[in-house]
Amino acid sequence: MSELNLILLGPPGAGKGTQAANLREDFGLPYLATGDMMRTKRKEDSDLGRKVAEIMDSGGLVDDEVVCKVLIEAIEEHGDDGFLLDGFPRKASQADILDRALEQRGRAITAVILIEVDDEELVQRLAGRRQCEKGHVYHVDTNPPEQEGVCDVDGLPLERRRDDEPEVIRKRLDVYHAETEPLVERYDEAGLLQRFDGMQDPETVHRHIRKTLSTLRLEERL
Ligand code: AP5
Ligand code: MG
Repeated sequence: MSELNLILLGPPGAGKGTQAANLREDFGLPYLATGDMMRTKRKEDSDLGRKVAEIMDSGGLVDDEVVCKVLIEAIEEHGDDGFLLDGFPRKASQADILDRALEQRGRAITAVILIEVDDEELVQRLAGRRQCEKGHVYHVDTNPPEQEGVCDVDGLPLERRRDDEPEVIRKRLDVYHAETEPLVERYDEAGLLQRFDGMQDPETVHRHIRKTLSTLRLEERL
């Protein structure tokens, strides 16, 4: 069976992390999320850690040199038999770097999963999001934990992300439309793009993605 080298693409709050939790189990893929990697990086007591924190809190993008290095190393370490990327690539230069790194190893992206959601809905979702430090995601209204403020999976406290303040959300959406959205056309032209309506409930979105990926896998085997 061929490798599943997948990219989850979509605006902030589209449900990339939510869907990844299911897909990584469905397909046994390592989950490589640059947002999580940068949230680890920002905790470092170093000039770099402080710089990353400042950029993230403003809603901007961390420099390519920092993000790409960490991501390519993670693929090398965990992604030999396939991977699920979340939050990467986020602009053309990162997509170029990823293509080159995979090509040098005789590999390529298998599919790009685009989750589409309206901007207004995204603002609501992010304003009510809570997550634990391991990245398990909830929503105070639509997906609350059993016990308020506590993660169902690992019992860790749930927190609001620092970049989920309304003005930062707006900036992140602007950055998405300017820098990341052009990748949709790029991957569409490359025949890799699979679009999903992220306005539906999480289970429905998951069912659709799983079905599409399973079909793609079957077709590859014929
Ligand atoms: P990152 O962590 O990647 O954040 P993001 O892309 O902005 O996306 P989010 O994690 O906010 O949203 P999501 O799509 O995962 O939604 P979720 O499932 O949580 O990046 C953060 C920062 O790191 C960046 O701003 C940047 O500074 C830096 N960074 C990261 N990668 C970088 C890169 N490559 N280059 C440079 N900088 C980088 O869901 C959201 C909420 O909605 C939850 O409450 C959830 O319960 C709810 N929800 C989910 N699905 C549904 C549904 N179908 N219906 C109703 N509610 C739903
Ligand atoms: Mg996420």
